[in-house]
Amino acid sequence: MGSLPSEAEQYERIRTTVFQSAESAVRLVAASIARLMWKRAAEGRTAVLGLATGSTPVKLYRELIRLHRDEGLSFSNVVTFNLDEYYGLPPHHPESYRHFMEVQLFDHVDISPENIHVPDGLISRSEVFGYCQEYERKILATGGIDVQILGIGRTGHIGFNEPGSGVDSRTRMVALDRLTRRDAARDFRGEENVPAYAITMGVGTILEAKELALLAWGESKAAIVREAIEGPQIDTVPASFLQRHPNCQCYLDEAAARELTRFRFPWKVGPVDWTPSLTRKAVVSLASDLHKPVLRLRDEDYAENGLATLILETGSAYSLNIRIFNELQHTITGWPGGKPNADDSNRPVPAVPGQKRVLVFGPEPLDAELGMAGTLHRLRGHQHEVTFAYLTSGNLGVPDNEARMAISLLHELSADRPMVSQGKDRLELLSDELEKKAAFDEDSRVLRQFKGLIRKAEARASCQVLGLDPSKVLFLDLPFYEKGRYRQFNAADEDVTAVRELCRRIQPHQIYLTGSGAEPGSVSGISFRLVVSALEECAGESWMKACQVWLYASGERPWSPHEIEMAVPLSPAELAVKLDCLYHHRSQRSQTPFLATQSGESWQQAENNNRSTAQHYDRLGLAEYEAIESFRCHKDAESRFS
Ligand code: PGA
Repeated sequence: MGSLPSEAEQYERIRTTVFQSAESAVRLVAASIARLMWKRAAEGRTAVLGLATGSTPVKLYRELIRLHRDEGLSFSNVVTFNLDEYYGLPPHHPESYRHFMEVQLFDHVDISPENIHVPDGLISRSEVFGYCQEYERKILATGGIDVQILGIGRTGHIGFNEPGSGVDSRTRMVALDRLTRRDAARDFRGEENVPAYAITMGVGTILEAKELALLAWGESKAAIVREAIEGPQIDTVPASFLQRHPNCQCYLDEAAARELTRFRFPWKVGPVDWTPSLTRKAVVSLASDLHKPVLRLRDEDYAENGLATLILETGSAYSLNIRIFNELQHTITGWPGGKPNADDSNRPVPAVPGQKRVLVFGPEPLDAELGMAGTLHRLRGHQHEVTFAYLTSGNLGVPDNEARMAISLLHELSADRPMVSQGKDRLELLSDELEKKAAFDEDSRVLRQFKGLIRKAEARASCQVLGLDPSKVLFLDLPFYEKGRYRQFNAADEDVTAVRELCRRIQPHQIYLTGSGAEPGSVSGISFRLVVSALEECAGESWMKACQVWLYASGERPWSPHEIEMAVPLSPAELAVKLDCLYHHRSQRSQTPFLATQSGESWQQAENNNRSTAQHYDRLGLAEYEAIESFRCHKDAESRFS
């Protein structure tokens, strides 16, 4: 490794750089790969690249394609080796990694087909061992991999080296971890369609590359990224073995870096500037660790837990505790649209205007409901004008069997009532398609449309439970989604325009959205960036100046009270309404009962999160509620690492 780690990086055992966005990170990685390619071309030598698949490297490949197209970067002297391939998938299968690489990179650059190596997923079982040895031999014959690109799975895998893969493991056939299969379930339209085995380079093979670049985006990777970078080297987290490599560099976006000690507990790393948000974070985390209400923290508690400087700067635990207690108290409001005729100087939402126009964005049906169904219900109850815009139909998330059920219903209806027989041709077309396709085949356009209708029907029913006006429930069906597929979406200006025009038409006083910490290529991540771009385009407009943009939590992690700027409590009855609303998205229930019991259905998770936030507030010494939905302001979300 080159330079010594800085004070901030002292807990990190892999050299790590954190970028504001995945885009800025991949520009740097692509530029360094391009430098290598140019240098080797000038020397008349090849550059050997180790490549990865999944959502993570998609932007990197787009940048390399751009360099090829705009700056004359040639791949004619490049040899590539991919990390892995699903076992049993033919190369043309839409989910095979070979196909992925063609679509995402090879088809767009001037690489020679004979220089491309992706493990063969169809090799017969008896030949696998020899084949894998041959794969390694080919790598060695090129002189070894110059730069290996790596993503990290939530299990801690690199390539498909799942937990249990030793540091000396070589290219081989492996069984996929359940969590990995679950994460791939959407790509394959059901977890049961995800191959159980794969061929992967081993950890030992990977460590032989001259340089390693580990990339990770989005907060779903944050916990495993911390384990890999700061934890012990252990085969339950194969990525932790990267710590052994002398030339490994980790590139993270802020969301993926959030669990690293330098962001999570910056005061443990060195002197800090005690900004209001950092102070709140320190007090809440101290109270939580010590299981004490905020108002019962003593000077000694601070001193004994590495927070002496906070007390030195603020005077005493007594005044600090009261200040933070009040701040937390002021986040709680049962009036998410503002409380008319009330003093609003300490409320998260202004009282005026008494009746607000509210625009809620849901990336896919169910996302916004998971995060804020109770608040939506409340906003309607308080007579605000709520428009609920679903950005995408979510048709990719509908299992075939749901479509079969709906088609069967329509068949019966059309048999009984000849007047709907016009629809019959289409029905037959749909039935035929369903019967013909293999479960993991991509859906045709008509089938996607039909599945979209199923999700829209569920969404309408769930909005009905919340009392929303059906004419204000909108489906934007954004083109990026309709044209794309999971892990490979590509948003365009037309998507931003549709969102911007809706905002302009409604001129809302409040906007609610999610996805700030999501992986940037996910539907939530793309939706978040689209809405933010649309709002930036509206920046000078008068309605925008007064508009509050709130982020709701719809992911897996409950937010801690220090991150929350508006906490909307739900009574037991309101929580029941929320669950009723969520259950209407029945096509989204887990298709795998075993996993549902392990990790919970998404609605159970939402309920648990809302209850646990309420319990957390209670433990800090605030009022005890049944459940709490949490929000933060968009502007502050940007500086959550301060
Ligand atoms: P992802 O997968 O890039 O799709 O998140 C990473 C991996 O499994 O290595």
